[in-house]
Amino acid sequence: MTVFALVGGQWGDEGKGKVIDYLAEKADMVIRFSGGDNAGHTVINDCGTFKLHLVPSGIFNRRATCIISNGMVINPQALLTELNELHSHDVDTSRLFISNRAHIIMPYHILLDGLEEERRGQGALGTTRKGIGPAFTDKTARIGIRAEDLLNKDILLQRLKPILELKNLILTKIYQQPPLVLEEVIKQYSLYGEQLGPIIRNTETMIHKAVDEGKFILLEGAQGSMLDTDFGTYPYVTSSSPLAGGGSLGSGIGPIKFNRVVGVFKAYSTRVGNGPMPTELINDTGEFIRDKAHEFGTTTGRPRRCGWFDAVAGRYSVQINSISDIALTHLDIYDGFSSLKICTGYKVDNETLDYFPSSIAVLEKSQPVYEEMDGWEEQTAEAKTFDQLPPAAQRYIGRIEELLHCHISFVTVGPHRDQSIMVRPILD
Ligand code: IMP
Ligand code: MG
Repeated sequence: MTVFALVGGQWGDEGKGKVIDYLAEKADMVIRFSGGDNAGHTVINDCGTFKLHLVPSGIFNRRATCIISNGMVINPQALLTELNELHSHDVDTSRLFISNRAHIIMPYHILLDGLEEERRGQGALGTTRKGIGPAFTDKTARIGIRAEDLLNKDILLQRLKPILELKNLILTKIYQQPPLVLEEVIKQYSLYGEQLGPIIRNTETMIHKAVDEGKFILLEGAQGSMLDTDFGTYPYVTSSSPLAGGGSLGSGIGPIKFNRVVGVFKAYSTRVGNGPMPTELINDTGEFIRDKAHEFGTTTGRPRRCGWFDAVAGRYSVQINSISDIALTHLDIYDGFSSLKICTGYKVDNETLDYFPSSIAVLEKSQPVYEEMDGWEEQTAEAKTFDQLPPAAQRYIGRIEELLHCHISFVTVGPHRDQSIMVRPILD
């Protein structure tokens, strides 16, 4: 039995898609366990370049069963569009299933995500405006619509009628917007039910069977640990748990069954959206990294904020996920840098913190304490083994391992599948 969870160690966009794609080649089942189409995973392989938002990256492995789990919120139109895109590249999606417990993003979620952001003005969270937060809010408030509700028009009507009455009051009375028409929403979402119905299943049964049969199961995280609702930079967070623990809740596999937790980190830091980021570089170096690494959001196209590697946040991320192996990505972006900085502490007033504080007020006034290391001139893109990396790059990797108290088992030096170095075998 092998259950791997793969999570983002920073603020998302760590290059998880590539690492998952690599591991998914061997997997029997790949489960996306949290978030929704706020995520954007770029996968480059023999079939082409794909920007996946909802479909697990395991879709390119012809053997793997792929699951959009109970922990996700689904925009049916976004899913259908993504499936069409995959089909147009001849990617077989017949092994994809949706949990009947997954929640559905409704038109009012998307409208309210935008309206709430506008209302926050200066205090906007910088959400992706995909309706993710409002959909998870309704899940917790017990007024969500689940995938299984789409399968029966009468049940959908019964569930949706009182909910839409409430949402229309909010839309019209608070935001002075036109109301949504019940019949139209029912018609549209019943049609989605017909289109997606054949793949909506009781996926826990499939998952538990796979666990019992000792299959290799990969839990595919989205977003990043620092965006976790509990442990992230609240309130500048997403609305579900991108942590390994979220992988347990989002799949119905208890934590005792997990064999490894792979945490994906970039060699530097990025964040898209608002909220504290202590090592952000608002200068030429930050811009240089953004341009060189094309750091623009996969989902929203927004420029990502870039900065040095933050080992305080990194160590915390290792702890809150129990990360057993790190995958360090985008190392090649640092080729040609004469020196590199790593943040090892936060200076707040006269104190230096070596832990990640909960308060954004504290984080906002944190001054990063940096350790400087030599960079390297050589190109790393062709390196196939750890020994082929420049000595300074090896030292950089070693220092991150020391600071995070965790092995770096996997390093990527470019976007292509073969630009990956397995430092330590993680597949038994
Ligand atoms: P939401 O998830 O759309 O509610 O957005 C909340 C915060 O999470 C915003 O700062 C978003 O930019 C950020 N976010 C959500 N999904 C991703 C992702 O996949 N990568 C990076 N940031 C994300
Ligand atoms: Mg992304």
